[in-house]
Amino acid sequence: MKIESKEYRTIWFENNIVKIIDQTKLPHRFVIKDLKTIKDVINAITIMEVRGAPLIGATAAYGIVLSILENNDQSFLKKSADELIKSRPTAINLKWAVDRMMKKISGVNSNKIFEIALNEAKEICDEDEKFCESIGLNGLKIIEEIHNKKKDTVNILTHCNAGWLATINWGTATSPIYHAHKKGIPIHIWVDETRPRNQGANLTSFELNEEEVPNTIIADNTGGLLMQRGKVDMCIVGTDRTLSNGDVCNKIGTYLKALAAKDNNIPFYVALPSSTIDWNIKDHKDIPIEERNSDELSHIEGLDNKGNLRKLQIYPKKSKAINLAFDITPAKYVTGLITEKGVCEASTEGLKNLFK
Ligand code: MRU
Repeated sequence: MKIESKEYRTIWFENNIVKIIDQTKLPHRFVIKDLKTIKDVINAITIMEVRGAPLIGATAAYGIVLSILENNDQSFLKKSADELIKSRPTAINLKWAVDRMMKKISGVNSNKIFEIALNEAKEICDEDEKFCESIGLNGLKIIEEIHNKKKDTVNILTHCNAGWLATINWGTATSPIYHAHKKGIPIHIWVDETRPRNQGANLTSFELNEEEVPNTIIADNTGGLLMQRGKVDMCIVGTDRTLSNGDVCNKIGTYLKALAAKDNNIPFYVALPSSTIDWNIKDHKDIPIEERNSDELSHIEGLDNKGNLRKLQIYPKKSKAINLAFDITPAKYVTGLITEKGVCEASTEGLKNLFK
């Protein structure tokens, strides 16, 4: 998708260097950053220069490629794989991508290993882009149906950033939105600010602006009122891990939006590629919920009136804060899962029919 009218993907490989768009600098600065070592990759994932479940997975895949360039000894690669998987615990795409890479290179001899790994990392990216495009076409039908009934602008609420910046291209939650916009269906997006890191305001609104999709940022607690006043036609969010029973783990605050949507009879959809499905964990209580530094709550970053980036403390110095990054929306609150294979019920049966 576009930044300043130029098409980009979120990650690419050039001259043995992984190139990323540094998302900690958006929306105020557009910086393309070089990752040259496995340490750079682990750091980029940990401090969220790259973020969003599919993009974390793709970056980790390239991490294995860089690791091979440093030292293709099996024990070094195994250590790199373990450290990558630990760098952010909740998004299942990370482990999925690392496991896929390690399987692909297992037993491969040293003069072929780099080429095979690089091709696999590229394949993970190409596949994600293709899957996200299909998610868009499948979700488009739902937006079209609402528009055909309403005959007016479709208002869609989204949380966090499940946009193209969170994937390779298109996004998950935003892909149906971009497809609808390209088709000329009038849409308007309510963008949850998404405290504490403001991925909605900083990333979703930014990328929608670049594609000229009408959007309005709202404080995270505004969605309920908008729903009660008939200003939301549907919600679409992404996910970091969806269980085979349809329970959805996503950015903190998603659950409360789903509850409000249920209370107001508003369809609540979750968009995801199959790489985000965890087929193993049966109980959402077993999903590792990332706890990040409470500085992300107590400090805020932005531009001062001279255009300099500044970080400010906004909480009392003595106050304690806890920063849990994800929550669980039980399947019963999810109207449907929009996947690359079609839309299904958020249930064991629904997912089984599509994927097994
Ligand atoms: O902490 P983040 O910014 O990585 O969280 C991202 C989300 O919660 C997204 O909704 C999810 O990863 C899906 S991205 C297509």
